[in-house]
Amino acid sequence: MSISTFSYVPVVLLLLPAATPAASELTLVVDLQPVHELLQFVDQRLASIYPIIQNFKSTITSDPLGITASWRTSDICSYRGFYCDNPPDNKSAITVGSIDFNGFRLGAPTLEGFLDMLPDLALFHANSNEFEGTVPSGVAKLPYLYELDLSNNRLTGPFPTVVLGMPGLTFLDLRFNQFTGSVPGQIFVQNLNALFLNDNAFDRLPLDNLGISHILYLTLADNRFTGPITPGILKSLATLNEVLFLNNNLTGCLPYELGLLREATVIDIGDNQLTGTLPLSLSCLTKVEQLNLAGNQLHGGVPEAICRLGLGNLANLSLSGNYFNNVGPWCRTMIERGVLDVRNNCIQKLPSQRPVEECARFFGHMGTCPRMWSYSYIPCKNPHSAPTTAPSP
Ligand SMILES: *[C@@H]1O[C@H](CO)[C@@H](O)[C@H](O)[C@H]1NC(C)=O
Ligand SMILES: *[C@@H]1O[C@H](CO)[C@@H](O)[C@H](O)[C@H]1NC(C)=O
Ligand SMILES: *[C@@H]1O[C@H](CO)[C@@H](O)[C@H](O)[C@H]1NC(C)=O
Repeated sequence: MSISTFSYVPVVLLLLPAATPAASELTLVVDLQPVHELLQFVDQRLASIYPIIQNFKSTITSDPLGITASWRTSDICSYRGFYCDNPPDNKSAITVGSIDFNGFRLGAPTLEGFLDMLPDLALFHANSNEFEGTVPSGVAKLPYLYELDLSNNRLTGPFPTVVLGMPGLTFLDLRFNQFTGSVPGQIFVQNLNALFLNDNAFDRLPLDNLGISHILYLTLADNRFTGPITPGILKSLATLNEVLFLNNNLTGCLPYELGLLREATVIDIGDNQLTGTLPLSLSCLTKVEQLNLAGNQLHGGVPEAICRLGLGNLANLSLSGNYFNNVGPWCRTMIERGVLDVRNNCIQKLPSQRPVEECARFFGHMGTCPRMWSYSYIPCKNPHSAPTTAPSP
């Protein structure tokens, strides 16, 4: 169907044959004999995005669920995936305020010219499609956009820095794409509540303390991050509820600033290349329920103060696959309770430990950590309060 007359005709009439056909006949007329018809829209805002949607539809390369078949008439609010609402700047207007393409499996070479051309959009959710390209640079001009979910697509290129110019954005989900390169530090100090970047090919974290972040949920797992987790980045993430660094190539020692994540309930830094001992500051993590440091090269004794977190919220402390060589009575209690997992370490007399030779080899080549003083520093007034007597075994 042609849209060429469209933009010149702000108020529009549906041009019909003299005798109005029944709806089903009308469909046939439109489908079989495309004419320069004029469509009628309930609002001018819908009229002006109609050509944008039709143009995007023409770029769709795959649509196994037949979604776009519904993107035909002037009734845009009935299209699958489109949701209408009254825009904030005019409560009597009607516009597309939200798009939810989750699971539609639509393919298109780019979202440019579509996502960035829907001026009243507040939410764009497109999980599990096959969109390519990157985040269109024009999205920064969308004044109401606050949730952007492009997870599980085929987006590529560097981190889409366009989102740094979007102070209103609170939710950014770029999981399961093919983004590469560094993650800019500014993204941590925007107004984002949730930042999901896992399962890409990012390789560099910001190093500096950039200010205080508002992020509650941060997932950086399954990328190719290298280098250390710096004190600066941990300081700026003090509000975090969940932080997932799992399965990267992070190196260096654990900074005591990890113990400053006082709101965190899940901290997962498993399967990296971290080394050094556990900072005592971890005993300040009184809200943590899941703490995973398995699969690194951590060593030394497991501090009793950390195991005592198991008397509170800590339900799973996973330290397996490291080189720890000592546990005290509280830690043994937590092993018995199934809270602490220290399998595949170097703790003599416990079952399922590494061979003695392997441990000896590791201890022969152990490095040291900077700021050694900081490993016994406890940056909180009330770490999990120590009962006066040790547990009975
Ligand atoms: C608000 O929207 C209505 C419906 O589109 C329109 O008629 C009216 O002119 C708009 N008001 C302003 C102030 O733009
Ligand atoms: C970590 O680095 C090693 C060696 O460079 C590489 O083989 C491995 O794939 C990397 N792992 C991740 C998760 O990036
Ligand atoms: C504890 O956490 C580890 C690492 O995340 C996980 O593999 C394991 O299944 C968890 N155990 C329980 C009992 O939830």
